[in-house]
Amino acid sequence: MAVEILPTGAALGAEIRGLDLRRGLDPDSIEVVKQTWRDHLVLLIRDQDISDADLVRFSRYFGEPRLAPLGEARMKGRSRSPEGYPEVAIISNVTKDGIPIGSLGNGEAIWHTDMSYLEEPIMGAILYALEVPPSGGDTGFANMYLAYETLPDELRSKLEDSVCVHDHSLNSAGFLRRGYEEVTDVTQTPGARHPLFRTHPETGRHALFLGRRRNAYVPGLPVEESDALLDAVWAHATQSAFTWHHRWQVGDLLIWDNRAVLHRRDAFDNDDRRVMHRTQIEGDRPYYKRA
Ligand SMILES: [Fe+2]
Repeated sequence: MAVEILPTGAALGAEIRGLDLRRGLDPDSIEVVKQTWRDHLVLLIRDQDISDADLVRFSRYFGEPRLAPLGEARMKGRSRSPEGYPEVAIISNVTKDGIPIGSLGNGEAIWHTDMSYLEEPIMGAILYALEVPPSGGDTGFANMYLAYETLPDELRSKLEDSVCVHDHSLNSAGFLRRGYEEVTDVTQTPGARHPLFRTHPETGRHALFLGRRRNAYVPGLPVEESDALLDAVWAHATQSAFTWHHRWQVGDLLIWDNRAVLHRRDAFDNDDRRVMHRTQIEGDRPYYKRA
């Protein structure tokens, strides 16, 4: 299968043309896709018309899909996964009979890493657009290899051996998760601790590894010092020189490397419908191995 690779020209991201994901890919094409993903961190594949089965098959080229993180909804008999596909999460603002069909609503989702509040965050996620609003709802990505490589020395030395607590209490839309209390003292933030620098297990490159800014804390530091350090590192990491923003069209599929990019979503009008199906790929515990 002849594929064409078009880098975005921004700090990360590339489009791959020539793939039809309604069918399985041959091993050579799979390797091209994975190498392009390793090189560019975010892949865009446009003009697809795929089923959930196709989405899951494509996801398996990268690893084992993790079940959608919607246990509470599922337990209440209100699964936010399509029937028969518990590994597919519906990301949507649409409601049916007053009940949301998916998660995250229509608000802004600030810069974050998916599921980094867990000991083993996902390695990547795949998002497929079924319905998109006429404006808003863009997804942005930031290249954390570049953020690591360009860190000022003063920040680098402070972060080198530090870990950070990744808040589990709020979701990426900023809502309190069921069973959690609002964090008032960041030294008590619930969630996994990960090194602030991360070695990518496939490329061996180092990346800055941030989860979400709110309620983050660097254990061992006074709160004011931790806040100042994290504010500085977040300002560095999310500067526009490291980012690329995607304006969605129906049929677009994006896959991002959750080990080396931050992502965010713009808000959009809640009168407009946005329906995405997402899979998430199992990952392992972040580590940092000095060069
Ligand atoms: Fe996310």
